[in-house]
Amino acid sequence: MTHTAPVLATPPWWQRDDLGYRDGRLRFAGRDVLELAEAAGAPLYIYSLDRVEANLSRVLAALAASGCATRAYYAIKANRYAPLLQRLAASGRCGADVCSPDEVDLALACGFAGTDISFTGTGVSSRDLDRLLAVPGLHINCDTIGMVRRIGERAPGRDIGLRVNPATGIGYADSDKLTYAGAKTTKFGIYREQWAEALAMARRFDLRLTTLHFHVGCGYLAPQLDRWEQAVAAALAFLDDAAEAIPDIATVNIGGGLGLPHRAGDPALDLAQWSAILARQFAGRGVAIAVEPGDYLVKDAGLLVLEVTDVERKRDTTFASVAGGFNLHPEPVHYGLPCEPAACLLREHDTARWQRMTIAGNINEAIDLWAEDHPMPPLREGDHIAFLNAGGYGAAMMSNHCMRGALAEIHI
Ligand SMILES: Cc1ncc(COP(=O)(O)O)c(C=O)c1O
Repeated sequence: MTHTAPVLATPPWWQRDDLGYRDGRLRFAGRDVLELAEAAGAPLYIYSLDRVEANLSRVLAALAASGCATRAYYAIKANRYAPLLQRLAASGRCGADVCSPDEVDLALACGFAGTDISFTGTGVSSRDLDRLLAVPGLHINCDTIGMVRRIGERAPGRDIGLRVNPATGIGYADSDKLTYAGAKTTKFGIYREQWAEALAMARRFDLRLTTLHFHVGCGYLAPQLDRWEQAVAAALAFLDDAAEAIPDIATVNIGGGLGLPHRAGDPALDLAQWSAILARQFAGRGVAIAVEPGDYLVKDAGLLVLEVTDVERKRDTTFASVAGGFNLHPEPVHYGLPCEPAACLLREHDTARWQRMTIAGNINEAIDLWAEDHPMPPLREGDHIAFLNAGGYGAAMMSNHCMRGALAEIHI
C-alpha cells in the first residue's frame, strides 16, 4: 500500500501491503473497511480471496523446495465460506481436508472432486462411515482401530490411511489446548503401542494402508520448529517400525498447524526452515508429503468488523463495548488466540496519546472480552473496530448464543 502521508510514527506490527491505514482510514485488500461495514452492516466478516491464494502459494513453494512429491489439502473446518472453497477448488492447486460427512458434501458442491478430498475425523459413527464410503475416490484416514475394523467390515480391500499419535507435539504459545499430541494422552490417532494391533486389523480385512497421517498441534511458529521436527521424526518412526508390513505407503500427511503471528512480537513461521526440515526428514523415503493447513491459508485473510456501542470508564478501566461477542468468533476466548483490534477510523495519529481500553462484547458472560488493557485511539459510539486475523475458526465456529448470531460475510 502506498501511504500519501505517514499516519503513525511506528507502523502497527500487523501492517502489510494489503492491510494498513491510509489517511487515517483502515484499508484491506484495496478497500476502505468502514465503507464496506457501513454498506453491508456489522457484524461483518470480510475476506480477501487474493490473500488466501497468496498464502497457499507460499506453502506450495515451500513444499516444492523440500524436493519431494507434494500435495496440499485446505482444512475447510477453518473457514467453509462457499466462495472461498469455490475459488480454491477452481484454482486446482489444492484439495480439501474434511472432518465430517457434511463437510464432504460441501466440498463436492463447491467443486472439489472426490479424489481431491481427504477425510480425517474423530468420533466417526457407523452412519458417518456409510456416507463417506459412498463417495467415489474419497481418501479416509482412520483415527481408531475400531474405525479400521468398521471400514474393513464394509469395504474390505479398500485403501485407507492411519492417523498416528507420536506423543509429542506443539501449539501456539505452547498452549495445552492447541497441542494435539504430547505428554498428556489425547483422543487423536493411534499410539505407538497400538500400532501392531492397528496394522493387524487392516491386514485382517485386506485394507491397503497407503497413507500415514499425523497432526500434532495448531499455530506453531518459528521458535517451535525444533520440536516440530522431533514430532515429525517420531511420526516417521512408525514407518520404520513396520516397513515390511506396509509396502503400500505412498504418502505421509503431516497435518496442518502452521501458525501466524497473533500478537506484537510473535515471530512469523519460517517456511524456508520448515521446508528444510521436510527435506531432511523425508530424504530417501520415496513417499509424497501431504499437508493440510487451515489457519495459515485463511486466518490473516479475514477481518471481523463490529460497531462500538459505548465507551465508558468504570473504576480503573475504560471499556469500549462492541455489538458482537465471543460467540461470533470463539477462538480468542477459548484458545487464547487473540484477534488484534484496529479502529477503522483513526481519530488520533500520535500513539502516545492512545488510551488503554478493554474491549467487551455483547454476550452476558464475564469471559466475553475481545482484548484487555489494549492501547487504542479515541473511540466514539457508532465507530467501528476491525478484529484482525479473524478469517480462521471464526464464522466457522460461531454460535447463536444469546440469539446474537446474526452476521454477514463478504469477499473482496
Ligand atoms: C487433522 C487436522 N488437520 C488439519 C487441521 C488444520 O489445522 P490448522 O488450521 O491449525 O492448520 C486440523 C485442525 O484441527 C486437524 O485436526
